[in-house]
Amino acid sequence: MSAAASAPAAPELDRPALNALLRAMPKAELHIHIEGSLEPELIFALAARNGVKLAYDSVEALRAAYAFTDLQSFLDIYYAGASVLLKEEDFHDMAWAYFLRARADNVVHAELFFDPQTHTERGVPMATVIQGLKRACDRAQAELGISASLILCFLRHLSEEAAFETLEAALPYRQHFIGVGLDSSERGHPPEKFARVFARCRELGLHLVAHAGEEGPPAYIWNALDVLKVERIDHGVRCVEDPALVQRLATSRLPLTVCPLSNVKLCVYGRMADHALPALLAAGLCATVNSDDPAYFGGYMNDNFIATFDALPQLGSAQAYALARNSFEASFAPPADKARWVAELDRCFSQHMQAA
Ligand code: HPA
Ligand code: ZN
Repeated sequence: MSAAASAPAAPELDRPALNALLRAMPKAELHIHIEGSLEPELIFALAARNGVKLAYDSVEALRAAYAFTDLQSFLDIYYAGASVLLKEEDFHDMAWAYFLRARADNVVHAELFFDPQTHTERGVPMATVIQGLKRACDRAQAELGISASLILCFLRHLSEEAAFETLEAALPYRQHFIGVGLDSSERGHPPEKFARVFARCRELGLHLVAHAGEEGPPAYIWNALDVLKVERIDHGVRCVEDPALVQRLATSRLPLTVCPLSNVKLCVYGRMADHALPALLAAGLCATVNSDDPAYFGGYMNDNFIATFDALPQLGSAQAYALARNSFEASFAPPADKARWVAELDRCFSQHMQAA
């Protein structure tokens, strides 16, 4: 795919027309923790189904606790929410609910992170987790026309030895996931802590990604690239503090999966108007927009697009086109699928520009 991705030259759309375009354009989601799509209503329904006692009395009380000050304050609640997931059906139902939301946002391809250690530590078998998620992915393709794949994430607050054990337990299901990632508490857990397990995953032919530069410094991004040899950086927004790193990311077109609502909710930025997304695009990076943990951060894909474009006047139809196109370029989908989605994107743009 060519790196040059710009919208056909056209007069700028007014706000309602731009929002309609953002909603309608086909897009890929590359940074969604499927456990972060568990809405409070589903947490309570699964708790009732499985006889799990929650620390909150109601959906409203749980939602009221979603006031985060940083990544760790979110993770504590996020891991507690995941405790209702016990059976294969639970994993299927969670992912299916996400796919219905994704379809409504014109997501045509999704690469889902999942955190097996959050479940295996509670005695849930790896097979239960992976088979439930895989069944939802197959169903998304068959019933919604959404192409979907799974990326297994290692929890970085745990040891590399635990990551190796997780990889071992997942290998019988190797054909059901396309890659590995690194998530959870970033500060104090640099990428190089996982150098050996990522090297092993590379030998196995798995795709490699890692969260870096969300709360951690630019050095974590450098080491994710040079030590772990990742193909995408999740978040990565703190690259803007290091011009040489921005240059490296721009030249290589190594993608960043940016999550704007997440960044504001976790206080990476005080307000959306301060977000680095326009600067990243202007520098020529392959930046994408994603929802991260949509049930916790105030919205799914289109909510992220609209909140970002509303707050940042530098973003218009050219940036909308670049972001959608980048999402396909950055995906791990086969080239023929990417070409088909870009053609759909071009058709969608022509229609919206002509109607304006
Ligand atoms: N950062 C790190 N780990 C995570 C996140 C995140 O935003 N969401 C779920 N696990
Ligand atoms: Zn994330």
